[in-house]
Amino acid sequence: MHRRVHNQCLRLCRRSQSSLASQAPRLDPFKALAPQLTELRSSLVTMLGSGHPAITEITEYYFLHPSKQVRPVIVLLLAQATNGLGGDWQKKLWESQCEGAGGSARELDRTMTRPKVLNDWNPHMPSETAKFNPLFEMLPKRHRLPKPVFPPSPSPPTPTLANTVLPTQKRLAQIVEMMHTASLLHDDVIDESALRRGAPSAPASYGNKLSILGGNFVLGRASAALSRLGDSEVTELIASVLSNLVEGEILQMREVKMEEDADITKVFLDADKQRRSTPTSRDAWNIYLQKTYLKTASLMAKGARSAVVLGGCKEGEVWKEIAYAYGRNLGIAFQLVDDVLDYESASATLGKPGGADLQLGLATGPALYAWEEHPEMGDLIERKFEKPGDVELARDYVLRSSGVQRTRALAQAYADKAKEVLQLLPDSEAKAGLEVLTERVIGRKS
Ligand code: FPP
Ligand code: MG
Repeated sequence: MHRRVHNQCLRLCRRSQSSLASQAPRLDPFKALAPQLTELRSSLVTMLGSGHPAITEITEYYFLHPSKQVRPVIVLLLAQATNGLGGDWQKKLWESQCEGAGGSARELDRTMTRPKVLNDWNPHMPSETAKFNPLFEMLPKRHRLPKPVFPPSPSPPTPTLANTVLPTQKRLAQIVEMMHTASLLHDDVIDESALRRGAPSAPASYGNKLSILGGNFVLGRASAALSRLGDSEVTELIASVLSNLVEGEILQMREVKMEEDADITKVFLDADKQRRSTPTSRDAWNIYLQKTYLKTASLMAKGARSAVVLGGCKEGEVWKEIAYAYGRNLGIAFQLVDDVLDYESASATLGKPGGADLQLGLATGPALYAWEEHPEMGDLIERKFEKPGDVELARDYVLRSSGVQRTRALAQAYADKAKEVLQLLPDSEAKAGLEVLTERVIGRKS
């Protein structure tokens, strides 16, 4: 860690209370943010319009069966918990208030591409976009923004709204939800999943091709909105999440594929016979946790960090490190709980097929722990539970082991770390909300 950040951490640690709970009143973040989340979702749907009704329908589909919106909640709460702390906060606040400086809601909402240049027809925005038109038509004069007036120095407006969420941060909350939804439109094709959020999945309703194309369309809209934020650090962070999602998914597949490939497996096992006789492979755990970060925690960690960057956290300041560490630990805890629920809950509770991981050939936390207690699991994991009866047998081993409980305990350990890092922030309702969110992630049933 950067030395300056490290020193800030130490100072803050000393200053923070020994108790792990914030002193501010605890609020239910989902209830407290419900109006904002509803508003964010409805304006997000507006951004998704397309000239092709089929695309509009499929891209809106998962937003109309809304998620719990954990990712936007992380962004909004971290924005509230850290706004006012970063060295550039006043500049960011001013940018959000001064028309022409790039950060106002009106500017972020302006049509995302130049009408009649990219033919970006969006039926939700008829006055802002254009249908395909013959080229060389004379265009009406475009309204030009006045030149921005920079704040008078040396006394910029005094921000008192330390918990204001800036328009750029609200847009970021929408972008992370769009990235998540786009990934699900792909994931349900890859996993051949018939159910999502208690309804037929997008591929089940519209077919694989439209699901993939719809996911890519959502990513296109998210990318345009991301560029409008005008922050290259945030662009890089969020773009790298997309690479991480793909890496995570491929790592998950490769894990399966490597085991499919007898030669590779043999070379690997022969080279280390010890490992073969060891019930739990350290490599399997490493791959599993790395994959968990890439496919789930990266979006939460980098989304959280981006929220703090948009709030004016400068290089070398600790606030973005705190946000990243919180999101990373929370994200890993979230996926571990997901992997537990795949064993514990029925499809009706989950709103998606339960017991899917073994069917997909995946050995998640509970199976890896069960392997320690039942060495017979090793062979099943190696052949991806593909022989008739393997899935049932493996499930039985898992349920007769402490795999589920130990995975829950591991999730709790990550959640505790997430809470611990929050103690470096000053007390606020938003910080208390982040603590409650952490408990909700652990206690969730679906
Ligand atoms: C759900 O996991 C899936 C993810 C968290 C990420 C999926 C990522 C991709 C498919 C890579 C491509 C992404 C984009 C944006 C192009 P899960 O299957 O364990 O959970 P589930 O039970 O909810 O389906
Ligand atoms: Mg899936």
